[in-house]
Amino acid sequence: MEDVTLERCVELDSRYVMHTYKRLPVAFVRGKGTRLWDSAGREYLDLLGGLGVVVLGHGHPAVTAAIEQQAERLLHTTNLYYVEPQALLARTLVEGVFPGSKCFFCNSGAEANEGALKLARKYHFLCGDPRSKVVCLLKSFHGRTLVTLSATGQPAKWEPFGPVVEGFVHVAMNDVAALEEAVDGSTAAVLIEPVIGEGGVYPLEDEFLATARRLCNQTGAVLIFDEVQSGMGRTGTFLASSASGIKPDVLTLAKGLANGIPVGVFMGVGEFGDVLEPGDHGTTFGGGFLACAAGLACVGTILDEKLAVNAAEVGGVLKSALEEMVGTVPHVTGVRGRGLMLAAQLSEPVAREVVMDCLGRGLVVNDVAPDAVRMLPPLTLTQEEALEGARLLAEAVTAVGERGGVL
Ligand SMILES: Cc1ncc(COP(=O)(O)O)c(C=O)c1O
Repeated sequence: MEDVTLERCVELDSRYVMHTYKRLPVAFVRGKGTRLWDSAGREYLDLLGGLGVVVLGHGHPAVTAAIEQQAERLLHTTNLYYVEPQALLARTLVEGVFPGSKCFFCNSGAEANEGALKLARKYHFLCGDPRSKVVCLLKSFHGRTLVTLSATGQPAKWEPFGPVVEGFVHVAMNDVAALEEAVDGSTAAVLIEPVIGEGGVYPLEDEFLATARRLCNQTGAVLIFDEVQSGMGRTGTFLASSASGIKPDVLTLAKGLANGIPVGVFMGVGEFGDVLEPGDHGTTFGGGFLACAAGLACVGTILDEKLAVNAAEVGGVLKSALEEMVGTVPHVTGVRGRGLMLAAQLSEPVAREVVMDCLGRGLVVNDVAPDAVRMLPPLTLTQEEALEGARLLAEAVTAVGERGGVL
């Protein structure tokens, strides 16, 4: 592959790629651990991990070895035949993460949620009581397909693509009374992110999750937890929902499942693992050799090395450092999140400028909202790196405030 300068890359992208992303002016070409290097050779501390995907850090040796070995052996045969790494990854996920369940592998978070919703509809069909209403949350994000967009509680994302798929109802997060009002005997599923991610990083309260569980038990609705972003150990436990002790009927994972190789999964526990039958659902690429071999190495490493514990400890250090900014760094007004899923709230909508300024200082973070900066670093982050990141962010917010007077 030819080497291209950033300018040339921008030019090619602008001419040949649809303009669906507001890209930042940098092209990363190499990564190791929590560090990235751009096309000009500049080094960055990566506190974003490819939007929560690179859970083990860049170029993790276990994942690299698994990819290399699998690429040499076999890349594709389809799901017409048995796929060894898929069966092994399923065992690891079921026994290590969601006991008593069964898996369906796909390629993304959106596909995982789409499949979970199909499962919920089929479940009620089998019960002789077809249902299609799904209760979701405002500010939630579940994907970009038409169904998962309809589930997403951010109207601006689906308005241009209307009419949305019927049956999705949205209630405010942590509003127990609204949830009680919305879930009834016609509800097929309640779909919830235990920690809302794209909507701004908002952990849901235990009482709210417990209410969702109780209402589903009472009405027969299927409880689906979308842990595409909050799962994989990021919040201090492998599943964010484990901290509350509440278990879903169906669980979705993606993002960090293979440290950067696309893979998603939905898992149904008990009877929900047997709802879909031959012919009901399928995919050409899902559960492929490469993705599952990488997933096996990734999930195995997270479990063996107890990286969720590191996420809790280092996340605590990062959160404290961010909290210290409230009151000392003008315009940082609050901190949200758990483990290594955190956001700093700003008093003004200048998160994009702050992110740009951070890039200039060699720090990668994300403007999850116009007035909030998000961090989803690799779970291998050290305390020193957490403090380095917090210091650079503080400098950036201060500089943006002083420069533009916008803040
Ligand atoms: C909670 C959640 N669900 C679903 C998705 C969609 O995943 P994907 O982009 O892999 O389709 C995302 C992506 O950000 C997400 O954060």
